[in-house]
Amino acid sequence: MPSTGTAPGGHRGAGSTQRFGETERKDAWWFIPALQALGLLVLIGYANWAAFLGAGHYHFVQNGRDYLSPFFSPYLRPAWLLDWFSPAILVLWVPLGFRGTCYYYRKAYYRSFFADPIACAVGEARSKGYCGEVKFPFVLQNLHRFFLYAALVFLFFLWADVVRAFLFEGKLGVALGSLAILLSTATLTLYTFSCHSLRHLVGGRLDCFSCAKAGGPQHRVWSWLTVLNEHHMGWAWLSLFAVCFADLYVRLCSMGVIHDPMLVTFANLFDVPEKVFGP
Ligand code: FES
Repeated sequence: MPSTGTAPGGHRGAGSTQRFGETERKDAWWFIPALQALGLLVLIGYANWAAFLGAGHYHFVQNGRDYLSPFFSPYLRPAWLLDWFSPAILVLWVPLGFRGTCYYYRKAYYRSFFADPIACAVGEARSKGYCGEVKFPFVLQNLHRFFLYAALVFLFFLWADVVRAFLFEGKLGVALGSLAILLSTATLTLYTFSCHSLRHLVGGRLDCFSCAKAGGPQHRVWSWLTVLNEHHMGWAWLSLFAVCFADLYVRLCSMGVIHDPMLVTFANLFDVPEKVFGP
């Protein structure tokens, strides 16, 4: 049977006579790459601006609120860090590295920004010279698993921020900002747990679960991760939106542009049974 793939280091498309952009496809194949490019430019652009240039309003501490922008978590500001450096510089390399080497984002930015490959069955810019991800700098994409380990550690800090966002001077409560921080961390968690590398680590590398030690529990966890993994692209976008929204919300509260409404407090929660069951 003839091989349809390209060996690592081999060149794909050699001998192709299709010109760049040439295709017999009749659908709007360019639409998704263009939309992705726009989305990435806006959201990654905002994230970089917020983290490095708009670094003054990332923490809102007022009226019992304690909201930290997810771009700055875990908060690190060692004495040696010069004043004009944003503290995000010490932490943002993890989410940037994690997303930058993510299988889904790779597909997205290879298509949207490099046009290489631009789309299925559409002529490429070059007919030879593609060597996969086995040479520098693309070989660095293999670091994805290590960024995953770091991202898993970061989740602990982000969930600690969620707990703080639901505590108001020691009392449990829910304000709109608490929900914004929760949404950001929850979607980041789902994005991380839907990672292809994590799924592979948990069970994807096995040919036979029943032959493996603790194969049953491994299979169960692998099945849960598979359900999440099927929607990895969705979690990637949702978490990117949510994290930018949480930063924007904290920023606007801190600047005094918006007022953070309290939705419910611990005392209110107790009022409900009193009214329903009380004398
Ligand atoms: S493949 Fe996307 S986060 Fe791992």
